[in-house]
Amino acid sequence: KLVALLALVLAHGLLPCASAVDRGQFPDNFLFGTSTSAYQIEGAYLEGNKGLSNWDVFVHKQGAIVDGSNGDTADDHYHRYMEDIELMHSLGVNSYRFSIAWTRILPRGRFGHINPEGIAFYNALIDALIEKGIQPFVTISHYDNPHELDKIYGGWLSPGIQKDFGYFAEVCFKVFGDRVKFWTTLNEPNLLTKFSYMDGWYPPAHCSQPFGNCAFGNSSVEPYIAGHNMILSHANAVSIYRNKFQGKQGGHIGITVSSRWYEPFQNTTADILAVERALSFGGPWFLDPIILGDYPSEMRRILGPSLPEFTLKQKKKLQATKLDFIGLNHYTTLYMKDCIFSPCEVDPIDGDARVVSSATGHDGVLIGEATGSPHFYSVPYGMEQVVMYYKQRYNYTPIYITENGYAQASNSSMSAEDFTNDTQRVDYICGYLSFLASAIRKGADVRGYFVWSLLDNFEWTSGYTQRFGLYHVDFKTLKRTPKMSAKWYRKFLKGSILRT
Ligand code: NOJ
Repeated sequence: KLVALLALVLAHGLLPCASAVDRGQFPDNFLFGTSTSAYQIEGAYLEGNKGLSNWDVFVHKQGAIVDGSNGDTADDHYHRYMEDIELMHSLGVNSYRFSIAWTRILPRGRFGHINPEGIAFYNALIDALIEKGIQPFVTISHYDNPHELDKIYGGWLSPGIQKDFGYFAEVCFKVFGDRVKFWTTLNEPNLLTKFSYMDGWYPPAHCSQPFGNCAFGNSSVEPYIAGHNMILSHANAVSIYRNKFQGKQGGHIGITVSSRWYEPFQNTTADILAVERALSFGGPWFLDPIILGDYPSEMRRILGPSLPEFTLKQKKKLQATKLDFIGLNHYTTLYMKDCIFSPCEVDPIDGDARVVSSATGHDGVLIGEATGSPHFYSVPYGMEQVVMYYKQRYNYTPIYITENGYAQASNSSMSAEDFTNDTQRVDYICGYLSFLASAIRKGADVRGYFVWSLLDNFEWTSGYTQRFGLYHVDFKTLKRTPKMSAKWYRKFLKGSILRT
């Protein structure tokens, strides 16, 4: 075996996975794919009769994006989607997770004019994927909402969005649902509420407290109102799918949350309890109401009246809709510290606990390897922990890992070669896959895994300074070049990566 491995390394110049993983450890019908989102890759922001999204407007405000860039062109995927499907085909993936730009389908966001050019674009994309044996796995909304809805009623802050989101979802089910069998309603609502209504980083750049990007805070309840409307918008879309489409189309519908894992900063009861609170302020903020019927008890206790109540009718609707699967975006594990008895600055997303961004915890223990992003540490073991946590909390609801990936820091003096030799990404992906395989062996019902991302792309407020792609993109020429990680993923999917 060792000789075979050495031969593989010599023949392909590839690093073998440092951990014990191979394709054979996952079920045959497991979905393996890559993940993207519309605003981050499509570009063509004024083409095809598209309306303006909140991001189209926000990026042009001075100081909004660290490198002063925007997604006007991004990867120009709108024009190059056939080339990108070829890239996926050559990787050997059997699924692709992407999102639909609301403003391509409904330029003004609401009931009324459905844009045939937007429909034609996604029809062509979906047909070409299926032609290559790649299952579309569609996110209905990945952060880019119609600007018009922000102007009319304040976007997610208004209950009006529940109906408009339901209508947008219904149009998607009606026109694409004959071919799309996997839907997620929203991407990471638990981070979207934080970045948009707590930290002031994402549009509409509101702040709930004086920290993050904010000199002062204006509303401590907005994040929870927006979250409440997201949950009810999701429920509306699911109920439309169940009542009108699922029977005929036979697909599955879920929601994707961001799911960090935490370790106690010190081995004390206080920090261990802080970890529990922080976990429930994450994905469970959304998944508890949707699956279990109400917000986590820790959230109720800590937030009191700032957390909205569900009416009886809404609870019934949530009960009736449920989920076919949970989508987890998982990247990192961080230390967590109790803040009840200490004067640390409290980030409300984690309850009265605080992420300690330092990589060392009690006794100076390193949590994992640093990555190119200050927010992410590479901690493969966290993948298994997080999956087991969601499995137990939600009683075996099937799970898809809708995102997992590695950031490289980028600046203009670096060359393509600096990026394509991405041995850290290979280590990261194979390490996380290995712990995912372990969770499956322990009984977790995980059915798919998607690398974030197919291509380097527009990383929101970090602009083009963070690269997550398996393919390098030269943002001047838009040329795509496979990194070592793309070659590794291809070999892994073909079954020619051997377990060490
Ligand atoms: C999660 C988000 O869904 C995606 O849009 C983002 O680019 C990645 N994380 C990396 O930060």
